[in-house]
Amino acid sequence: MKNILVTGGCGFIGSNFVRLVLEQLPDSRIINLDKLTYAGNLENLADIEDNDRYKFVRGDICDGELIFNLFVQEQIDTVVHFAAESHVDRSIEGPSEFIQTNILGTFALLEAARKFWLSSPRPPVPNPRFLHVSTDEVYGSLGDTGLFSETTPYDPRSPYSASKASSDHLVSAYHHTYGLPTLMTNCSNNYGPYHFPEKLIPLIINNALNGKDLPVYGDGKNVRDWLYVVDHCTAILRVLQKGRVGETYNVGGNSEMQNIEVVQTVCDILDEKVEPLANGQTRRSLIKFVKDRAGHDRRYAIDATKLKQELGWQPSVTFEDGIRMTIDWYLKNEEWMSGVLDGSYQDYYSSMYDAR
Ligand code: NAD
Ligand code: DAU
Repeated sequence: MKNILVTGGCGFIGSNFVRLVLEQLPDSRIINLDKLTYAGNLENLADIEDNDRYKFVRGDICDGELIFNLFVQEQIDTVVHFAAESHVDRSIEGPSEFIQTNILGTFALLEAARKFWLSSPRPPVPNPRFLHVSTDEVYGSLGDTGLFSETTPYDPRSPYSASKASSDHLVSAYHHTYGLPTLMTNCSNNYGPYHFPEKLIPLIINNALNGKDLPVYGDGKNVRDWLYVVDHCTAILRVLQKGRVGETYNVGGNSEMQNIEVVQTVCDILDEKVEPLANGQTRRSLIKFVKDRAGHDRRYAIDATKLKQELGWQPSVTFEDGIRMTIDWYLKNEEWMSGVLDGSYQDYYSSMYDAR
């Protein structure tokens, strides 16, 4: 892993991953290719932008020529592919970008890797690896019991998860057909620093700090399996270093919670840490049950036994600790929050929530 191409490194998980690699792999360089959509933010990596082992390239993963040139110029031996449209609600409002970036963008990356790594009898770089970062949502929705394993049949139910499932199938096909050295991770819900405030946890933190309604979809009893983002990043690193080529590894937090429990927890911690609301009420009073998400998956939960048994990985941060660390980070980084909440976010927020 000398020259690592990270796609989507200016987003939530990508930026945490870039920072971790620069800390933990002193002999590796990172080339971060990011289009800087609304979800990508240069501020997420402002602290490392002058690191001489880091290079930022603004560009689109759908641009095959740009990517192939990067492979050649930078002698890329490792790809960690995060770039995606990642928000389910936006995929329901407008699926087109999801098809474009998540499917065609992944296809363009796979093609560039195939052309560079496999076009001559010997790869131009030693031990190339293409790690595709995917999601547990490809498996669909669980009932009250059961867990998603690597062999659970795919059953995506939103435009977002269908586009991710499609990209997973392409990755798998490139391994089986061409022998591309791929790895895949399917992870549960992440939370932590640099999480864009359209997603549940940072949205609730931001609204609760500002005395705004806390929108909970449906009955609030949908379940997600929460994982602290740095744990996801260490899992990806472990899979890159030790995973078997062609394999998929599920990554999860072993931390199932109903949405309403998550929201109440955030409210209670904020009540403890910051001054009360102007009317003296607790932040739980801001909770508002709103119209449900269309096709809302009821429950996700990951069985990460394979990752634990084969590669010795398990989460190191409990939800109780991780949510406090996350809230502390947002309290210390209010400028970051106001930086990402530009006019287009306000428009998005109104269109999402006024109708509910
Ligand atoms: P994010 O939305 O925060 O970041 C996505 C990044 O990709 C942004 O920096 C954006 O600018 C960039 N990007 C988007 N389209 C691009 C394009 N066409 N070309 C280049 N760059 C582009 O996403 P995230 O939450 O950090 O998720 C990263 C990856 O992890 C995604 O593939 C997602 O499906 C997967 N994942 C996320 C979670 C989660 O809980 N957030 C869980 C499991 C898997
Ligand atoms: O499971 C992994 C997936 O987790 C990733 O693949 C996605 O990229 C990521 O966005 C996330 O998807 P979710 O749809 O689960 O995350 P979100 O934060 O949007 O919602 C979490 C739950 O909270 C979900 O049941 C919907 C609910 N919700 C969400 C928002 C934004 C609310 O009740 N109110 C809200 O305002």
